[in-house]
Amino acid sequence: MQIHPTIAGLRAALKDAGRIVFVPTMGNLHDGHITLMRKARAHGDCVVASIFVNRLQFRPGEDFEKYPRTLEADCEKLVAAGVDHLFAPSEEELYPTPQRYLVEPPVEHANILEGEFRPGHFRGVATVVMKLFSIVQPQAALFGKKDYQQFMVLSAMVREFALPIEVIPGETVRAPDGLALSSRNGYLSPAERAEAPRLYRILAGVAEAVRGGRRDFATLETEAMAELSAHGWLPDYVAVRQRIDLQSPPTEGPMPPLVVLAAARLGTTRLIDNLEI
Ligand code: PAF
Repeated sequence: MQIHPTIAGLRAALKDAGRIVFVPTMGNLHDGHITLMRKARAHGDCVVASIFVNRLQFRPGEDFEKYPRTLEADCEKLVAAGVDHLFAPSEEELYPTPQRYLVEPPVEHANILEGEFRPGHFRGVATVVMKLFSIVQPQAALFGKKDYQQFMVLSAMVREFALPIEVIPGETVRAPDGLALSSRNGYLSPAERAEAPRLYRILAGVAEAVRGGRRDFATLETEAMAELSAHGWLPDYVAVRQRIDLQSPPTEGPMPPLVVLAAARLGTTRLIDNLEI
């Protein structure tokens, strides 16, 4: 695997690379990322990963500073997964001057759910991904469905800018007890780690209830949040939404494909998860 700290070096190496498949990450790679890398291999000739902890998508007071940076261990995993090129720029390389030109997702995508609790987050994500797309110029890109709203926002961005990039989803990878793999799981104390799978169990309960015919979504959401609170969590939201645009589902008529999403704080760690229904 070639490691490129500079845009110029990466661009030179990718000349004549054939169909490029791109997997952007912020590093601290776990099996969820590695599953994406292996899937990428099946979609093109040349797999490019990136590792960059993007300051633009963190708000002051979030975990930008303490976000785990584990480049050496990440490289070993990427080599084992058969990745061809890693783009790992410094902040000076990617943002040599403050980034003033920004990609602003529409409020109905960016200010709901995660965006309500992390204002500006999706502007930061869309901006860095647009810039990475411009640098790597891939024909396909993979994003995990664990960040469901991110997948929706980036798919819409690619569609609305008519970028010639196929956006491919990766399934969420879970620990045997159901906890979705996430770099932030590393922040959990042993007691919190034991409690954490409750989030998944609660989502599974909501999904089961909806599959069983319940349509009182607001009640289901309130009950789920109360159960989290009763076990020491601070829930931001539990929400049943339409998969396509994450808006509230219709109250009558045919039901479109749904997803239930949640975010909640356990101690100082904020976890998110979702389940398609
Ligand atoms: O999902 C992530 O790790 C990040 O949001 C991404 C897509 C790499 C942009 O920084």
